[in-house]
Amino acid sequence: MKRKIVIVGAGFVGTSLAYSLLNQGTVEELILIDINKDKTIGEEMDLSDGLPYSPHKMDIKAGDYSDCNDASIVVITAGLAQKEGQSRLELAVENTKIMKDITENVMKSGFKGIFIIATNPVDLMSYVVAKVSGMPTSKVIGSGTVLDTARLRYLIAEYLDVSSKNVHAYILGEHGDSSLVPWEHCYVGCKKMIEIMEDNNYPMEDLEMIHDKVWNAAYEIIEKKKATYYGIGMALNRLIKAILNDEKAILTVSTFQNGEYGNEGIYIGVPAIISKDGVKDILKLKLNKKDQERFDRSCDIMKENIKNAIDSLL
Ligand code: 2OP
Repeated sequence: MKRKIVIVGAGFVGTSLAYSLLNQGTVEELILIDINKDKTIGEEMDLSDGLPYSPHKMDIKAGDYSDCNDASIVVITAGLAQKEGQSRLELAVENTKIMKDITENVMKSGFKGIFIIATNPVDLMSYVVAKVSGMPTSKVIGSGTVLDTARLRYLIAEYLDVSSKNVHAYILGEHGDSSLVPWEHCYVGCKKMIEIMEDNNYPMEDLEMIHDKVWNAAYEIIEKKKATYYGIGMALNRLIKAILNDEKAILTVSTFQNGEYGNEGIYIGVPAIISKDGVKDILKLKLNKKDQERFDRSCDIMKENIKNAIDSLL
C-alpha cells in the first residue's frame, strides 16, 4: 500500500496529526491542503525542518486536491471547531456544507483510497462524506470514539495504577454527549473491570465518575486552552497505521450501521476491525438492556440530525 496520505485542513488538528506522523515515521508522502495557502506552506517548511530527526525519510508538501489521486488515505480535519460551551452537534449544518465541498473536490481527483474523517460532529460528517462520495461505506471511516476510548483507557490506568496498554475498554456511540461505556465488556489484562472493583471494595459509582471525566474532557480542555488537538492527532495516527500496516486492529471508529447493534443507516462509534481495506468487520458485543437503550438513544440523535439538518443539504 502506497504510504501517501493527504490531510485536508492544516489547523490545530491537521498539523498535530502531521507532527505525530513525522515523529513516528508513519508515511512516506504527506500532503497538506488548506484554504489558507500561506499557512500550509509555512507548515510544510516547519515540519520539514524536523525531517533529519525523524525515524523515516518523508516528503512533506503543501498541495492541492489533484494530489489525492494516488493517495491511500485522505484525512479530513477541516471545518469549524467547537467554541467554549458549544456541543459538537451545534456544528452540524455549517460543517456539512464544508464536508460536501471537500468530498466533491477529493472525488474529482479520481481518489480511490480510504477517507478518514475527524471533523465534528464526526458521526454525522462521516455519513455526509460517505453519501457525497458514493464510496463503499467500509472505506469511509470516522475517528468516532477512538479518542474517547484513549481517554477512558488512560483514566482507568490511572485509577488502577496499571499500564493503559493492558486496559481493554471501549466507548461506544456518539463521539459526544450521548456516548456510553459497556462496563461488562471492560477488561484489565484478562480480568473483568467489574470484578476488580468488587474484589477491592472500590465503589461502583467510580465507574460513572470515570465516564463523566471522559465525557467532560473536551469541554474542560476547550475551556482551558480553546481547542483539543494532540490527543486526536495521536488517535488519527493510530488509525492510519492500522490501515497502512493492514493490522486488523480493533479500534472504536465511527462506521456505517447495518443492524449489527440494532440500528441502520447511520454512522456511530463501535469496535471495528481495521485493515488495508478499511472497516473489515464490526465486533458485536452483547449489550445489556441499559447499555442497549443508551446506544439506541445515541443512534436516535444521529437519525434525527440526519433527517432534520443534514439530508436536505446533500
Ligand atoms: C475532542 O473530543 C473536541 O471532539 C474533540 O477532543
